[in-house]
Amino acid sequence: MMRAEQLFKTFNPGTPIENPVLRGLSLTIESGQFVTVIGSNGAGKSTLLNAISGDLFVDSGSLHIDEQEVTRVPAWQRAGMVARVFQDPMAGTCEGLSIEENMALAWHRGRSRGFGRAIRAEQRELFRDKLAMLKLGLENRLADRIDLLSGGQRQAVSLLMASLQPSRILLLDEHTAALDPKTAAFVLELTDRIVQENKLTAMMVTHSMRQALDHGHRTVMLHQGRVVLDVSGEQRKQMQVSDLLAMFEKTRGEQIDDDALLLG
Ligand SMILES: Nc1ncnc2c1ncn2[C@@H]1O[C@H](COP(=O)(O)OP(=O)(O)OP(=O)(O)O)[C@@H](O)[C@H]1O
Ligand SMILES: [Mg+2]
Repeated sequence: MMRAEQLFKTFNPGTPIENPVLRGLSLTIESGQFVTVIGSNGAGKSTLLNAISGDLFVDSGSLHIDEQEVTRVPAWQRAGMVARVFQDPMAGTCEGLSIEENMALAWHRGRSRGFGRAIRAEQRELFRDKLAMLKLGLENRLADRIDLLSGGQRQAVSLLMASLQPSRILLLDEHTAALDPKTAAFVLELTDRIVQENKLTAMMVTHSMRQALDHGHRTVMLHQGRVVLDVSGEQRKQMQVSDLLAMFEKTRGEQIDDDALLLG
C-alpha cells in the first residue's frame, strides 16, 4: 500500500523561477494494485515518483508505504521498499558490472547485510531461470557486461531485477518510451507478467492513452500537481482512448484556480 496525502513541492521557492509542482496531491494505492499515470509534460508525474522513492523530499504532506511513514526517510533507506525502472535504459543498472552482478545487487537490495562478494550456485541458477523467461538468450550471457545489451534487453533485465528485490512498490517512469514499438510491446507484456506473478503494487507513467487503459487496474491523470481524474472498474472498462484524450485535452486547456487548490 502507498498513501500520499496532501503533497506539496515547490522548486526554487522565493526566486523568479519558483515552480509549484506538487499542489496538494493525494493518492492511495492498495497492495497489489497496478495504476497507470498520465498527464502532460510538467504535470508532476516524475516528481511524484521521486517523492515516493525518496529521491526528493516534499515540502509538506505525508507519505506512507504500508503502515510506515517514509516522508523523511532517505532514498537509500527506502531501497528495500521501492523498485524503479526509468525511461533511460542506462539509468537502472550498473555499467561495468555483469548481468549476474547486477542481478545479485538487486537481489541483495533490502535484504539484510550488504553485498556478499560471491554469487552462490543456487543464486546463479535462479538468475538463469529468470533470464530464460525472457526468451532473449540472456541466460547464456550471465557474465557479459550489462552495457553490451540493447536498450530493450536492459529494460527487460531491469524489470527482472525489480522482481528480485522484496519491494512494496514498483515505479515505472515511461520505461518503454525509448524503445522501438516491437520492443516496447515486449517490455510491456513482460511488465504485466512480472507485476501479476509477483502481485506487485505498481505505478506506470506513460504518455500513451492506449497503454494507460490497457494495462493495470486503474488510471489516474495528474494536472498541475494534483490528481484530476481517477478511473477504475467498470467505468474504466467502458472507456475509450478517445474519451481519455478528450479529458486530457480539456484539463490541459483549464488553468486550475489556485484558491480552489488551496481549499481542496
Ligand atoms: N530537481 C528539480 N529542480 C527544479 N525543477 C524541477 C526539478 N525536477 C523537476 N522540476 C520541474 O518540475 C516540473 C514538473 O516536472 P516533472 O518531471 O515532475 O514532470 P512530468 O510530469 O514527469 O513531465 P514529463 O511528462 O515531461 O516527464 C517541471 O517544470 C520541471 O522542470
Ligand atoms: Mg517525467
